[in-house]
Amino acid sequence: MQRKNVWSVYFSATGTTEKIVTTIAKKIGEDLDISMKKFDFTFPNVRLQKKSFTTEDIVVFGVPVIAGRVPNLLLKYLDTIEGNGALCIPIVAYGNRNYDDALIELRNILSKVGFKPIAAGAFIGEHSFSQVLGENRPDGKDLDIATNFADNISKKILSSDFNENEIIDVKGENPIRQYYQPRDSKGNPIDIRKVTPKTNNLCINCKLCAVICPLGSIKYDNVRELQGVCMKCCACVKRCPVEAKYYDDENYLYHQHELEFQYTRRAEPDLFI
Ligand SMILES: Cc1cc2nc3c(=O)[nH]c(=O)nc-3n(C[C@H](O)[C@H](O)[C@H](O)COP(=O)(O)O)c2cc1C
Ligand code: SF4
Ligand code: SF4
Repeated sequence: MQRKNVWSVYFSATGTTEKIVTTIAKKIGEDLDISMKKFDFTFPNVRLQKKSFTTEDIVVFGVPVIAGRVPNLLLKYLDTIEGNGALCIPIVAYGNRNYDDALIELRNILSKVGFKPIAAGAFIGEHSFSQVLGENRPDGKDLDIATNFADNISKKILSSDFNENEIIDVKGENPIRQYYQPRDSKGNPIDIRKVTPKTNNLCINCKLCAVICPLGSIKYDNVRELQGVCMKCCACVKRCPVEAKYYDDENYLYHQHELEFQYTRRAEPDLFI
C-alpha cells in the first residue's frame, strides 16, 4: 500500500502534545519521503468540521491525559472522525503523574472509528496545573526519544512482514477504569470540576485568553466571565502576557501542591511498537 501523507493530528491547549506529535510525524515524513500535514483540533470552530482520512494516510494522533483518561469533552467529537483504514499512532501526553488508561482508551476509540493503530506512545508534558511538574517537558531528551520512535515506526511500515491489521498492544486496563479522583489529606474525594480561573487587576484586556480557550468559554466582551465549561487546561493561565489569570480555589490548590510534592521523579516515555 502506497502511503502518501503523514499527519500530525492533535488537541493541545498548552502545546506539549503538539510538540511530541509533530516531532514524530515530521520524522516519519522524512524517513518515508512523504509530505507532512497538520490538523489541529484544539479550537471549537475546527471541531465543527467533519474530518476523514484514507488508506493513503499515516496519522500520528495525540491528546493530553485528563484524569487518567482521554479528555471526556472530546469523546463526542472523536467519534465523528473517520479513519477509513488509515494507519495511526495514538499518542498521549501526561503531566508526570500517570497516563492510567488514556492510551488504551485512545487506541480503542481510533480503532472503532476506522483507523489501524500500529504503534503507540505515552510521553510527558509539563503539567497544565504547574510550572514545576514535568517542567519544560517535552525536553530535548524526550524529543530525541520521539525521533528514534518515529524511525522505528518507519522501519516497521517498510518491513516485509508488516501486518497493518495487527492492533498494537498498549499498557492499560480493559474495561477502562474510572477517571482519576483527586483526594484531600484525609483521603476524601475532591471535586474540582466546577472550578474556574479568576482574573486579577493586571489584565490589559488584550483578549488573548478569549481567543485561545479551547472550549470558547471565555467571554470576548468581558474576559472575566465564563460562558461555558472550563476543562482547567490552563491555556489562559499560562499564556496570559501579564499573569492575570489564576486559581484561588482551596481544593484546586491543594491538589496542585500535592501533585508537585508526590510526583517529583522523572517519568519516562512508554513506547509500544
Ligand atoms: C484537568 C486536567 C487533568 C489532568 N490529569 C492528568 C493526569 O491524570 N495525569 C497526568 O500525569 N497529567 C494530567 N494532566 C496534565 C496534562 O495531561 C499534561 O499537562 C499535558 O502535557 C497537557 O497537554 P497540552 O500541553 O497538549 O495541553 C491533567 C491536566 C488537566 C488540565
Ligand atoms: S490574556 Fe490576560 S491580559 Fe489578556 S485579556 Fe486575558 S486575562 Fe486579560
Ligand atoms: S477558561 Fe478553562 S478551558 Fe478556557 S482556557 Fe482557561 S482553563 Fe482552559
